[in-house]
Amino acid sequence: MEEKIKKIKSQIAEQLKSIKDKNSLEDVRIKFLGKKGEVTELLKEFKDLPKEEKPKFGKALNELKNEIENSIKERETKLKAEEISKKLEEEKIDVTLPSKKIIRGSKHPLTRVIEEIEDLFVSMGYDVCSGPELETDEFCFERLNLPKGHPARDMQDTFYITTEYLLRTQTSAVQAHTMMDNKEKGPIREIVPGKTYRREDDATHSHQFNQVEGLVVDKDISFADLKGTLEIFMKHMLGPNTELRFRPSYFPFTEPSYEVDVSCFKCGGKGCNLCKHTGWIELLGAGIVHPNVLRMNGYDPDVYSGFAFGTGLDRLAMFKYEITDIRLLYSNDVRFLEQFDRKDI
Ligand code: PHE
Repeated sequence: MEEKIKKIKSQIAEQLKSIKDKNSLEDVRIKFLGKKGEVTELLKEFKDLPKEEKPKFGKALNELKNEIENSIKERETKLKAEEISKKLEEEKIDVTLPSKKIIRGSKHPLTRVIEEIEDLFVSMGYDVCSGPELETDEFCFERLNLPKGHPARDMQDTFYITTEYLLRTQTSAVQAHTMMDNKEKGPIREIVPGKTYRREDDATHSHQFNQVEGLVVDKDISFADLKGTLEIFMKHMLGPNTELRFRPSYFPFTEPSYEVDVSCFKCGGKGCNLCKHTGWIELLGAGIVHPNVLRMNGYDPDVYSGFAFGTGLDRLAMFKYEITDIRLLYSNDVRFLEQFDRKDI
């Protein structure tokens, strides 16, 4: 028995040394302490020992069992520590590696155009104003000299919500708000960038689009002021060689009214695909504020006069950046949007 105990002791020391993982440690435990393990076998043999030898070997066997259990535990703790330091070693971060490139968003072409326009007009003393997109018939039409049943309402296909409420078809609706809200009935200089809605949908029209409105009301405002302002506006947006052409037109809220064309900035007016070989691109509606509009919104047309203009921002962005389909502006395709991150535009 003594021999066997000694042998087991040396075996276990030997085997524990070479152990590399939890599983083989468990194998060793089973080999010595399991149901058929070597120590368990010895305990069985112990039963058959003569009485006088029992106390001596009982103690020795107990000690052996404890010793084995302890050394297994010890080995287990060491294994765990080794595992952790190995993991730490593997997970080491090399802080000197180059970092991942962060993909940054870029400003939407419409935002760019709006900001550019706002900067220009604010520098000339204008306010940037806004109004409701869900508008009343009164402000979108009636206060702009378009009473119910007026044939010019057909110029704009409208989304009516009820007979009184509609999605505004033009930012001109804000003209009436500003004049009505101006308690002192003093001068007005405003631009209104904003969303507008009409029942149309194809490559050059979207049911929702953006306009910027301009309104100036003061004493002695004339067509010369309108012309000069639009010249500054268009040259700023499309280049210093841009020329303007005023064609007589009709809007119920201005008199006289004009459609304003700009010389094609791609061909300089010679004629190309962009301007459909005419040399001109139609970009704005404009005119002198109709006396009825001034009167209806609290301004005396014998004292005050004004000019107004409106342009489609989507159209302006499309020409400026040579975008051929308006729907690209609203489809949020990153391949399209990335192109506007360039420094030169
Ligand atoms: N509101 C007009 C439109 O949407 C444009 C316009 C604005 C015309 C101001 C004249 C004056 O077509």
